[in-house]
Amino acid sequence: MSKVYKIATLPGDGTGPEVVAEGVKVLQAVSKKYGFELSFTQFDWGGENYLKTGVVLPEDAPEQLKKFDAVFLGAIGSPKVAPGILEKGILLKLRFALDQYINLRPVKLYPGVECPLANKKPEDIDYVVVRENSGDVYTGMGGVSMKGTKHEIAIQEMVYNRFQVDRCLRFAFELAKKRHTKENPWCGLSEEDKAKGYTSQLTLCGKTNVLTYCFNLWERAFHEMGEEYPTVKLNYCHIDATCMWMVKNPEWFDVIVTTNMFGDIITDLAAMTSGGMGISAGGNINPEGVSMFEPIGGSAPKYTGLGVINPCAAILSASMMLDYLGEHEAAKDVEKAVAYITEHKLKSLSAGKMGYSTSEVGDLVVANL
Ligand code: IPM
Ligand code: MN
Repeated sequence: MSKVYKIATLPGDGTGPEVVAEGVKVLQAVSKKYGFELSFTQFDWGGENYLKTGVVLPEDAPEQLKKFDAVFLGAIGSPKVAPGILEKGILLKLRFALDQYINLRPVKLYPGVECPLANKKPEDIDYVVVRENSGDVYTGMGGVSMKGTKHEIAIQEMVYNRFQVDRCLRFAFELAKKRHTKENPWCGLSEEDKAKGYTSQLTLCGKTNVLTYCFNLWERAFHEMGEEYPTVKLNYCHIDATCMWMVKNPEWFDVIVTTNMFGDIITDLAAMTSGGMGISAGGNINPEGVSMFEPIGGSAPKYTGLGVINPCAAILSASMMLDYLGEHEAAKDVEKAVAYITEHKLKSLSAGKMGYSTSEVGDLVVANL
């Protein structure tokens, strides 16, 4: 009997349903090829549902999702609902309740994709950002006082404990260690480094010169854990410098590990350096629980319902989901098919400029599996 994976789909708002449909189409096709089954159950949480019922997210939503092998999400956020309600009430709520403490965001320039950085080729932009996904200013700690007066105080705290830092670093070190081997070392290493036995690099991105409490903790934990990974070269960059190098010398990065907020910001920049939101995938990972895969772009209200949005980010998120489920060959196949169409078919990755409709792009990926 073939393996059956139970997938919860959360198409969500805006163009979410359009891109999720293409992801599901590709998943169905690739599952037939590799002989496993997927059963999909759709949940209609999002802006429309909130406006209709007044419920942002049912109380038992996390419990419902825990019954699945993975969650496949489109986008959350609607111009008809005040900012924050859906984002905090659905997306962040689920990330926290399901303890998806890693937000994994690969940054990869696929062949044929126009890069806004001068003279950069696919081999120059191929790294992964491990964004911590459970702490930082996202915990909502802080408060206001004297609201509405001239003396109003607003505090939003950057919160980390050692446990959160260690589990995130562990994930990042393991990823860095497995990403490259002695036979296939990271190409950014010097001959000298290779001779020392290094195969990969892990960069901690922080702000040790100003945020001296939090990043002192991160830095100590980073170096302590680093001793367990002799093949991983440790590197440190301040957040501002990281942004600079991501644009000037992206080939200097292999795996970057960083805090929640910094990770949020640099992955939008990273997306733009590798072709934009149309191609940027991500996964909210709980290595011991249920993970949730989503394109990193938003709900794109202005393109909603036009059939012009690029589904590649969602399709690549589906590929990440397959990899996480253990279907590594199928995952690679999907990624290869996307790379093939970026090189040979799509005119552009931008919405409305692809030369194909959203569903035609899904068909092209299926045809090239
Ligand atoms: C992202 C988004 C979210 C975040 C918002 C919508 C809460 O920007 O997934 O990157 O900040 O994490
Ligand atoms: Mn973001």
